[in-house]
Amino acid sequence: MKKKIKVGIIGGGQLGMMLAKASKRLNIIPLIYSNTKDSPAAKVAKVYYGDFDDIKKIKKFINQVDIVTYEFENIPTKSLKIIEQLVPIFPPVHALKITQDRIKEKKFFNDNDIPYVKTLILKKNLDLQIIKKEISFPSIIKTTRLGYDGKGQYTINNYSDLLESWNMLDKANCIIEEKINIKKEISIIGARTINGDIKIFPSFKNIHKHHILDITRLPSRTNKKTENLATEYTIKILNKLKYVGVLCVEFFIDSSDNLIANEMAPRVHNSGHITIEACKTSQFEQHLRAITNKTLGKVSIIRPAVMKNLIGNDISKINLIKTKKEFSNFKKVNLHNYYKKEIKPGRKMGHITFI
Ligand SMILES: Nc1ncnc2c1ncn2[C@@H]1O[C@H](COP(=O)(O)OP(=O)(O)O)[C@@H](O)[C@H]1O
Ligand SMILES: [Mg+2]
Repeated sequence: MKKKIKVGIIGGGQLGMMLAKASKRLNIIPLIYSNTKDSPAAKVAKVYYGDFDDIKKIKKFINQVDIVTYEFENIPTKSLKIIEQLVPIFPPVHALKITQDRIKEKKFFNDNDIPYVKTLILKKNLDLQIIKKEISFPSIIKTTRLGYDGKGQYTINNYSDLLESWNMLDKANCIIEEKINIKKEISIIGARTINGDIKIFPSFKNIHKHHILDITRLPSRTNKKTENLATEYTIKILNKLKYVGVLCVEFFIDSSDNLIANEMAPRVHNSGHITIEACKTSQFEQHLRAITNKTLGKVSIIRPAVMKNLIGNDISKINLIKTKKEFSNFKKVNLHNYYKKEIKPGRKMGHITFI
């Protein structure tokens, strides 16, 4: 029998939990590193507890695994350095560093001729003079680092909004994006192996509420031309970054049907949860296949589906959500509970997939 591969997963949230579940089908032993007790992944895998900047504990964890991956993007640089020295880490750290910083991410899109939203940089008071001349309203101010699920961003409708929002963000380094008149949002999830093989899932249609993903639909019913272009950009990104693992690229389609890149996530992605039920291979299995250099699975759709996130109090209203008219065409409902202890507004507590 072949030796089982031990994969260390940094982060014990729901993404870590679903990766750990998928690893069991692939002869992979998952080991989780988490900074909080009772993390969702603890239900399905062995968990090591420690802070993400606790070098001693990180080293101890790394010594027990063959390769490392992550579901958590904000791993401190000094920890990444240590991990890199000791064991292969996928997706590659140079890709993570680009996606950790919205300015680097826009520069990457720019350098690779991928259309992206008009962006201004706000790092210091002096920048305001340029911004004053170039900004149009409405815009969206976003911290360059540490933002997720719409955190660290505000819509601004005038210059005094801008000053007020920047203060609320503690004058952190920010970017200001033109607010796109969004007709539709899609995401593309692709995987690349160490050998350079690539597979791209069909696009997902995403609906956000208060800047947090609410609903994903597959198929996305995007026109062929746009779908092909989004796929082409994603392949270009995977190759340019010599990427290994699953990557998600989020796109806007504006009212004139322009395809505009929003951001990238160097990991499995919330919109890809739908692949568990709807595709031949799930994004979680695909990621593990890619990082262990196994043949990638087929990405075709086996059944149409809709994924609804259970955010905050939604988790206690599942029966009500299930009976909504928009979901009435679907025969089967799968509940994915993340078993988080405390319900908080905006916290992802679980999701349901209608098949
Ligand atoms: N420039 C923009 N124009 C219009 N809507 C936006 C813009 N930027 C963000 N949004 C909305 O907010 C959501 C979350 O923003 P995003 O930049 O993807 O941050 P996060 O890292 O929190 O996912 C987007 O999916 C979109 O619905
Ligand atoms: Mg996003």
